[in-house]
Amino acid sequence: MNDVRLVPYLPAWEGACLELCQRSILEASGGAYTPAQRKAWAALDLDDWATRLRDQRTSVLTAPNVVLGLASWRELFATEAWLDMLYVHPDHQRRGWGQRLLEAVELDVHTSHALALLTQASEHLQPLLLSRGYDVVESKVVELRGEHLPCAVMRKVLS
Ligand SMILES: CC(C)(COP(=O)(O)OP(=O)(O)OC[C@H]1O[C@@H](n2cnc3c(N)ncnc32)[C@H](O)[C@@H]1OP(=O)(O)O)[C@@H](O)C(=O)NCCC(=O)NCCS
Repeated sequence: MNDVRLVPYLPAWEGACLELCQRSILEASGGAYTPAQRKAWAALDLDDWATRLRDQRTSVLTAPNVVLGLASWRELFATEAWLDMLYVHPDHQRRGWGQRLLEAVELDVHTSHALALLTQASEHLQPLLLSRGYDVVESKVVELRGEHLPCAVMRKVLS
């Protein structure tokens, strides 16, 4: 795809970004999560998510007339960072955009002098993280609006 750019988030993209997150949860390919689990996850607190998009380090991958994906992270402690969001548009998954966003976050985090990146990874995200050297710190099940979703806290030491 031509003219793909990775740019800092702008508040004007709030609606498109929130819709992308919801659609990627509901429509991501693969057998992870039932429709009921996805529906519970996608019923986002939109004000909270908009605040996090605005206040964290958020990057957006764009092409003409489409937002392909986004990633958002914040400092956790002096030496660690938390990857809060990594979402790719359901029509553009498995084309390397998630990996490109993740590589950009890792570089950004490393440049900020944090030594490790952690996240709570969905079952959709875990294969990508495992392929990039992340370790599972803890497997867990989170309750969201009455549904129970398996996930894992994962961590990578950045070098
Ligand atoms: C997880 C997500 C961000 C991955 O983005 P993506 O653009 O589809 O991933 P990529 O194309 O960069 O994948 C790179 C590699 O990671 C692995 N991978 C990614 N998704 C995978 C999946 N569903 N199953 C198995 N391997 C997968 C593969 O090795 C893949 O390389 P390949 O396609 O050549 O085999 C995307 O599926 C998504 O937005 N999912 C729904 C929302 C979500 O769960 N976000 C994480 C919240 S914690």
